[in-house]
Amino acid sequence: MLAKVSSFGLKGIDGFPVEVETDITNGLPHFDVVGLADTAIKEAKERVRSAIRNSGYEYPIKRITINLAPADVKKEGALYDLSMAVAIISLNKDSKLKNVEDYCYLGELSLDGQVKKVKGVLPILISARKLGYKKFIIPFDNAIEASFIEGIDVFPVKSLTECIDFLEGKAELEKVKVGNYQKEIIAHTAVLDFCHVKGQERAKRALEIAAAGGHNVIMIGPPGSGKSMLAKCFPSILPDMTFEEALETTKIHSVAGELDLKKGILAIRPFRSPHHTASTVSLTGGGNGSKAGEISLAHNGVLFLDEMPEYSRHTIETLRQPLEDGVITVARANSTITYPANFMLIASMNPCPCGNFGSKLKECTCTPNQIHKYLAKLSGPIMDRIDIHIEVDNVTYDDLKNGKEEEKSSSIKARVDKARDIQLKRFKNTKIYYNSKMGVAKTKEFCKLDKNSDDLLRMAFEKLKLSARAHDRILRVARTIADLEGEENILPQHIAEAISYRSLDRKYWG
Ligand SMILES: Nc1ncnc2c1ncn2[C@@H]1O[C@H](COP(=O)(O)OP(=O)(O)O)[C@@H](O)[C@H]1O
Ligand SMILES: [Mg+2]
Repeated sequence: MLAKVSSFGLKGIDGFPVEVETDITNGLPHFDVVGLADTAIKEAKERVRSAIRNSGYEYPIKRITINLAPADVKKEGALYDLSMAVAIISLNKDSKLKNVEDYCYLGELSLDGQVKKVKGVLPILISARKLGYKKFIIPFDNAIEASFIEGIDVFPVKSLTECIDFLEGKAELEKVKVGNYQKEIIAHTAVLDFCHVKGQERAKRALEIAAAGGHNVIMIGPPGSGKSMLAKCFPSILPDMTFEEALETTKIHSVAGELDLKKGILAIRPFRSPHHTASTVSLTGGGNGSKAGEISLAHNGVLFLDEMPEYSRHTIETLRQPLEDGVITVARANSTITYPANFMLIASMNPCPCGNFGSKLKECTCTPNQIHKYLAKLSGPIMDRIDIHIEVDNVTYDDLKNGKEEEKSSSIKARVDKARDIQLKRFKNTKIYYNSKMGVAKTKEFCKLDKNSDDLLRMAFEKLKLSARAHDRILRVARTIADLEGEENILPQHIAEAISYRSLDRKYWG
């Protein structure tokens, strides 16, 4: 007797259909799972057997063989449990199950027959919908996550019994209602607001430009000058994520098991701040299970590397490729997986071991050699990929205590939003959303300079010994500054300001 039940597997952040072919024959009692299954799946037999028995269904004392097709693709995790149990129960000789093949089943089983949450429900449903699958039975705990996908019928279940009762027509299941993404955005309130940061006008301005054009930033300055504080305020001025962006980001978090299942979708841009002791693999992804790393979890949001020179040199260098391409490819047993990794890098650092080199208020006690060694931890190619460098010095007592009201994040964000709108129009019908992502051709097209601006840039290029990459990045930053002012053309003052954000190249690394 043979049954075929539909389920789905995960490769990276995409789902692929898996046919759970179940064959029960007479013979010595035995349960075998074939089809490139990992250990979690091999252990499914114990869970499936106990769950069926403890839910009060008959478990056949026969030879059970389950093939997960296609057999040549590696399958991982416990999400096939439910489909296996349904297949086995459907083969009981007095089974009353109807329309089993109409549904796609996802879910892990506990020994007592509860259906437990699984990772990757959102990406699976998105892939399945594309392939024309319409009806799904999934774990109750994943219901909110599933609610953001329109055009399919999703039935959440808490237990195997609920699922079987439904398939026998004994009980109804309530379909998941479509979720409201806008409500999720509004429900969120920013934690840290720029109005609490006194002074630091230049740093705030630079972060505003970064938010508007999606530029990478490094802040350099003595300890206690507020670098970490500024970085933590940064998400409060980022534009809201579009629904498409939110789905893209949520996919990654769902697969990594990092999604808050009570919310079901990431409505705010992620802000990831891995500690400097974190391994390279935890940052970039890969390793056991080819998991997504921090840089992918930061997709469409911010990766904050506090005290960047403290990270291992190897870790920092690995960021070069994703910083350029917006994706990262990690090795898997016999294939590779590509994860999106389109993040904004916000980095901070002290300028030297004691932290006071370059400060107007404090004396540096380091030798030139020490300073040089410290800065050399960030290589030229990495600095090249950071569009905006800013010095942050300690606030003065007057700035701290002047009682002046600082601008709120919401009004900075309004300007950022406006500049982003201009960019969205500019890049309509392309895969680009903001200036920092312009390639060579687009940079040429949209960053034309008049004679004066060009002279300025030439001077800086020669004096600062800039690379071609840095040259293009200055143009893109200038484009963003012009957008913030609503200027169609890049003017000399825009180029001048953009150049000023590269002057650290000379001061510290020159
Ligand atoms: N400009 C500022 N306005 C208000 N408070 C500040 C400012 N700069 C620093 N602080 C205070 O000093 C603390 C330490 O700043 P922090 O961001 O950790 O500095 P850094 O990361 O540069 O070492 C902050 O938590 C904040 O309380
Ligand atoms: Mg800090």
